[in-house]
Amino acid sequence: MSSFPITRLRRLRQTQLFRNLIAETVISIDSFIYPLFISEEITKPKEISAMPGINQWTIETVAKEAERAYKLGIPAVLLFGIPKKKDDVGSLAYAKTGVIQKAIKNIKKTVPDLLVITDVCLCEYTDHGHCGVIQNKFVQNDPTLKLLSAMSLSHVQAGADMVAPSDMMDGRVGDIRRTLDKNGFTETPIMAYSAKYASGFYGPFREAAQSAPQFGDRRSYQMDPRNVLEALREIALDIEEGADIIMVKPAMPYLDVIYRVKETFNLPLAAYNVSGEYSMIKAAANNGWIDEERIVMEVLTGIKRAGADIIISYFAPQVAQWLQNKK
Ligand code: PBG
Repeated sequence: MSSFPITRLRRLRQTQLFRNLIAETVISIDSFIYPLFISEEITKPKEISAMPGINQWTIETVAKEAERAYKLGIPAVLLFGIPKKKDDVGSLAYAKTGVIQKAIKNIKKTVPDLLVITDVCLCEYTDHGHCGVIQNKFVQNDPTLKLLSAMSLSHVQAGADMVAPSDMMDGRVGDIRRTLDKNGFTETPIMAYSAKYASGFYGPFREAAQSAPQFGDRRSYQMDPRNVLEALREIALDIEEGADIIMVKPAMPYLDVIYRVKETFNLPLAAYNVSGEYSMIKAAANNGWIDEERIVMEVLTGIKRAGADIIISYFAPQVAQWLQNKK
């Protein structure tokens, strides 16, 4: 490579069209997933105070929001449910008449082509708020697997296009895959929350999903933020067990993990731009401290540049509108 003054990198930075021509990372709405919260405890949409602009929806109203997303060009939604009753084994998570099972049917009736992905985890459905069944104050791994499999199967039977286990139990991807296959759903993919860290960035979500653990924390199943080699082992195991898409979560503080995963594996990789990442930006923007559109696009570009193919983000509808305004 020749050096200055033969080479001048500013030559290709002079105009927007030159810059677009050589852009290495492009944000397209095609790679976004929009999370939606559906609650049986409310009778009309309710804004989540820690996530300005994001609502809990009723089983009826969520179909309208899904339709709005679809019309904006968002290809997929990711559903989280808040049941009317919680118990120690999360019974309403895998009930035919559960909140998610009903919501899937409603959404599919209104927007049949929109991809409906469901979060598979017990924490919103258990009275103790942990992601698995408890014995001796400890979240039990193996007894939880059959409940997660039952939950996945009931979502798919209700019409879900893909399931996304977020519980971090060992062996759950394999268990879910075998259950779906046995029941004839060999073509339904699994997006595994493979490297999910025990993160303070989930704080606002716990209000949104009413899923805060009632004792202790999630550190005995979610990953330690200090580790990255362990993330690669988590991912390798999920791939062996049959994951179709792998995920790193959260996104912003884990860009190195996203990069390492993309370098090491060749599966489609999702990154979850989680609730705390959303709320921090919203708070600063609502105070007039930062330029929201600019910051959001920069953050999302960073996540893509690090190696994510898919981004799960509460900003998805806004991104869709910003991209349309640019055209
Ligand atoms: C359920 C689950 C959580 C999130 C996604 N699925 C919360 C948690 O693990 O405590 C977090 C999403 C977000 O913060 O946006 N287990």
